[in-house]
Amino acid sequence: WRGTPGRATAVAHPNIALVKYWGKRDEKLVLPRTDSLSMTLDIFPTTTTVRLAPRAGQDTVTFNGRPATGEALRRIVAFLDLVRDRAGSSERAVVDTENTVPTGAGLASSASGFAALAAAAAAAYGLGLDATELSRLARRGSGSASRSVFGGFAVWHAGSGTPEEADLGSYAEPVPAAARDLDPALVIAVVDAGPKAVSSREAMRRTVDTSPLFEPWAVSSKDDLTQMRAALLAGDLEAVGEIAERNALGMHATMLAARPAVRYLAPATLRVLDSVLQLRRDGLLAYVTMDAGPNVKVLCRRVDVERVAAVVRGAAAGGAVHIARPGPGTRLLNADG
Ligand code: PMV
Repeated sequence: WRGTPGRATAVAHPNIALVKYWGKRDEKLVLPRTDSLSMTLDIFPTTTTVRLAPRAGQDTVTFNGRPATGEALRRIVAFLDLVRDRAGSSERAVVDTENTVPTGAGLASSASGFAALAAAAAAAYGLGLDATELSRLARRGSGSASRSVFGGFAVWHAGSGTPEEADLGSYAEPVPAAARDLDPALVIAVVDAGPKAVSSREAMRRTVDTSPLFEPWAVSSKDDLTQMRAALLAGDLEAVGEIAERNALGMHATMLAARPAVRYLAPATLRVLDSVLQLRRDGLLAYVTMDAGPNVKVLCRRVDVERVAAVVRGAAAGGAVHIARPGPGTRLLNADG
C-alpha cells in the first residue's frame, strides 16, 4: 500500500456479514462489541481516486460525478483528517468516487466506500501500510469496511484491553475456508430501495444502551463465530447458512427489544423469509441474512442460484434481485505522481 505520494486509485467490493457486527464499545475509535465474519462480494465495486491539492483550502469530494455534501462529506473529511494526521500533512485532497451499486438499491456502500477511500488516501498521502494496518484504518471510516480489505471470507477482531490496545487489536484478516466445497452464492432481494428510517449508527447505540437482549446476543454471537469458522473450514455450507441465519435473526431481535424499538423488517422482508423456508422444505439449501434494512440476502449453493433467485424474485414482488459470489479484496490500481 505504499504509492508515490500525490495520487492513487483503489477498488473495493462490499461485504455481507455472516456473523454480524452490531454494537460499539467505543464510538470514536469504532471498536465493536463483538468479532464479526463476512463474505466479500464480486459485485458493485467502488472505485475511488484521491489526488492531493496543495493549493486548495478545503477537500473536494465527488460521488458518481456529483459533489458530496452534508453528513457524507463530513465523514469523508474527518477520515482524511485522520490520514493527514498520520502522514504529518495538511494538504487538502480531491476525492472522486464511482459507486456501481444501483442508486437506491438499498445496499450499504459504506464498506466498499471506506475500504477504497482508505487504500487510495493512504497511498496518496504516502503512508506505507500493510493489509492489517489498512484494515485498521478503514475501520475508522465504517466498521464493516475493515472486512472489505480482504477477499473471500474475513473475520474482524473486536480487540480487547484498554482503548489503545483494542485499537491495535481491532482489524480484519482472511478466514481459511474450503472454498471449493462451499461454492456459495448470495441472492440479494431488494424489497425497499428507499433510505433507512434509522441509521445503523443510531440503531446500534440504542440497542446497546436499552435492549435487554443485546448482551445475550453478544454472548451467543461468540459461539456463532467459533462454529462459523469450523463450518467454513469443513466446507459445510448448510452449517454456514444455519449459523448466519440465526445470528442475523438474533441481531434483529436485539433491535426489536430496544426502547424504542428499531424495526427494519418490512412485510415484503417476511414474504421473502417465507419463500426461503419453502425452498428448504423443497430440499434446497437456502438461508437468509439481513442487515440494517429490509432487504434480504439468501445464501445458497452456486448450482441452485437461478432457482433460488426465481423464487425470491417472486416473493420480493417487483423488487430487484442481484446475484453475488465471493469477490476480491481491496486493490490499488495505480499510485503515480
Ligand atoms: O459498518 P456499518 O457502521 O455500516 O455497520 C454495518 C452493520 C451491519 O451491516 C448491520 C452488520 C455487519 O456486520 O455488516
